[in-house]
Amino acid sequence: MKFLIIGASGFIGRHILAYAKSLGYEVLGTASRPQPAEGLLGLDLVRDRLVEKVPASFFQTGGPVFVIISAAISQIDRCYRERDVTCAVNVANTMRLMEEAAVLGARPVYLTSSFVFDGRVGYYTESDPHSPISEYGRQKADIESECRQRHADWLLVRLDKIVGDDPAEDHLFSEWYRWSQARHQIVCMANQVFSPTCVDDIARAIILGCQKGLTGLYNVSNSEYFTRDELARQFFRILGGEASIICKTQQELGFVDLRPEKSYLDGGRFVQATGLRFMAMRQVISRFKEKIG
Ligand SMILES: NC(=O)c1ccc[n+]([C@@H]2O[C@H](COP(=O)([O-])OP(=O)(O)OC[C@H]3O[C@@H](n4cnc5c(N)ncnc54)[C@H](OP(=O)(O)O)[C@@H]3O)[C@@H](O)[C@H]2O)c1
Repeated sequence: MKFLIIGASGFIGRHILAYAKSLGYEVLGTASRPQPAEGLLGLDLVRDRLVEKVPASFFQTGGPVFVIISAAISQIDRCYRERDVTCAVNVANTMRLMEEAAVLGARPVYLTSSFVFDGRVGYYTESDPHSPISEYGRQKADIESECRQRHADWLLVRLDKIVGDDPAEDHLFSEWYRWSQARHQIVCMANQVFSPTCVDDIARAIILGCQKGLTGLYNVSNSEYFTRDELARQFFRILGGEASIICKTQQELGFVDLRPEKSYLDGGRFVQATGLRFMAMRQVISRFKEKIG
């Protein structure tokens, strides 16, 4: 079994790459820049083809190859403002790359998002119908629909909010920590309910899903869920620091496109299929605290 991680310079892709390597698998990773750091291959989804960037032998020997698509333009407002550019990257060229991977004999694994829902009810399952309210969500829903219709043997992993325990990386906890160090208020979107999940669990889940030969769509999500401001209160309670936490509406926050309020997912089907146990947020925050020393 081998892995090619598209978007291995990103937050989630970096963890999948490191985890797959730690298990001893042969792994390659890409970033969009032509000469990326960290031994990654340069691959731009719009410009490049896999056959031009990845040695042919990678696909030809050594067992099944999984091509994990962790590359996207995922800034919500940018997807709205630059609809044509982001649609080209996130939909047309992502589909093209996955189809090329399949022709090369590899199995595509695609990372999708809870933003395929409008967030009115929450606790979404794999069979709930799409109801995106943002351009980013529509782009994710387009790929999910296309895969459901034409590529039932690919694996789609649907995620909600992903956090980490490393203060040096960019994610919700490191952002809150930086804000508190700079004595800024912790501003949260009001009424947002999500299921924060540790990025290390996502890496483990994706590799496990490949090892078990899962196909189709799975929600991969912690069973804990919080309002954003409650998670912030727990974060600073465990850290032992002071922070002023306030909530603002989406309008007050100046968002250009809408965010779903209740984006939390029911990840029970994936847990049943794999037996994976997710880290509690208390544990993730405690590990974050240890790392800041
Ligand atoms: N993080 C979350 O909370 C979350 C939640 C739900 C779903 N997701 C989904 O999970 C996936 C990974 O998210 P992430 O947070 O790890 O994203 P990220 O940190 O923004 O990383 C994005 C990756 O995509 C690459 N990329 C961007 N444009 C590209 C292009 N034109 N061609 C090739 N590569 C390109 C980037 O390469 P460079 O570094 O070279 O630009 C980077 O490696 C995305 O599909 C995202 O929508 C994430």
